[in-house]
Amino acid sequence: MKVPFLDLKTQYESIKDEINAAIQEVLDSCAFAGGPFVQAFEKQFAEFCGCDHCIGVGSGTEALWLALLALGVGPGDEVITVPNTFIATAEAISFCGATPVFVDIDEKTYTMDPQKLEDYLQARLHDSRPPGLQAAMPKAVIPVHLYGQTADMDPIMAIARKHGLYVIEDACQAHGAEYKGQPAGSIGDAGCFSFYPGKNLGAYGEAGAVTTNNTQLAGQIALLRDHGQSEKYYHDKIGWNARMDGIQGAVLGVKLNHLSAWNQARRQRAEVYGNLLSGINNLILPYNADDTAHVYHVYAIRTRNRDALLRYLADNNIYCGIHYPVPIHLQAAYSNSNIQNNGLDVSKRVCSELLSLPMFPELTQEQQIRVRDKIQEYNLSPQYDLPDLRGRQSAQRTQS
Ligand SMILES: Cc1ncc(COP(=O)(O)O)c(C=O)c1O
Repeated sequence: MKVPFLDLKTQYESIKDEINAAIQEVLDSCAFAGGPFVQAFEKQFAEFCGCDHCIGVGSGTEALWLALLALGVGPGDEVITVPNTFIATAEAISFCGATPVFVDIDEKTYTMDPQKLEDYLQARLHDSRPPGLQAAMPKAVIPVHLYGQTADMDPIMAIARKHGLYVIEDACQAHGAEYKGQPAGSIGDAGCFSFYPGKNLGAYGEAGAVTTNNTQLAGQIALLRDHGQSEKYYHDKIGWNARMDGIQGAVLGVKLNHLSAWNQARRQRAEVYGNLLSGINNLILPYNADDTAHVYHVYAIRTRNRDALLRYLADNNIYCGIHYPVPIHLQAAYSNSNIQNNGLDVSKRVCSELLSLPMFPELTQEQQIRVRDKIQEYNLSPQYDLPDLRGRQSAQRTQS
């Protein structure tokens, strides 16, 4: 039996008629770049996120970049984020001419540790260098809702407000996730989403969006994504072409109607994994904080023998992923930059232990049992060295 990491084809088959009809409508109307299908999706997604505005763009990377630009982030500014995220979070900061600064993550949720954020900002406040050498306080913070679980937003918002920082939620992996009943993307000054095909809400190409309740900010982002023009060929500011395609808007409009059911199916698969895997030693299962509704974009377990287990599963036709193998501050792309790394011990440690198991709404119980059987088989095999992780099992909570 083959267990793919995700299965976009099966999902497409289940909604083929609706999707094909929606694409045909775009073809018939020739509204290919921006236009009514994008506008309809923007309205629908803003409502889904409990926000006043949604601005469709070309990707999650553009969503982050334009949100930062619209908030005035530019050369000389610092923006704080975490190192265990997709590189786009940091690239968006760098592409504004600003500098990414990293604070560490919480060992259970793998999202930004609010205490580390506060520690960093306190250290900056008490900078003992002569005034001329002191840098300005950071301008913004980007917590990442990693794997489909929101970061601990109450303390992050309180700390950010205390120090005058904007908050941009990187919700690229968290469509439909909630924090204390608030939808991801509705908590900070802006929320940024990716609709990359493999996401919980995935386009059939590239797409992204920014959500916000700030009307002025929404207007700025809408200008920036369309060459700064308020009227055709009248350019109020220098912008870019970051429009969403009409076909993606139409596809996303259809798929959004299914998202809540798909997220529920992911939660159910997470619960099944929790029950199947909880008896196996040397694994730490995902932690779902009480006050969050997790949408399991990624189901990541932890083991010290990650690379060997990954190979063993692949040899048995079970395909896993690693999110992410190298923290951003250690990536070659950032090796020459003057990035401060503030005791990023948790990020450095977990990146060699995290293994993302197959997870998608159409995953069958049979496939999940196969995954369990092969992990168990690997663990029982005497040829593998099994360091004891039990001391760290306090981080474990199964999805019961
Ligand atoms: C956390 C995070 N941020 C940003 C992005 C960038 O989104 P996109 O690939 O649509 O540009 C992604 C996509 O993988 C992501 O997972």
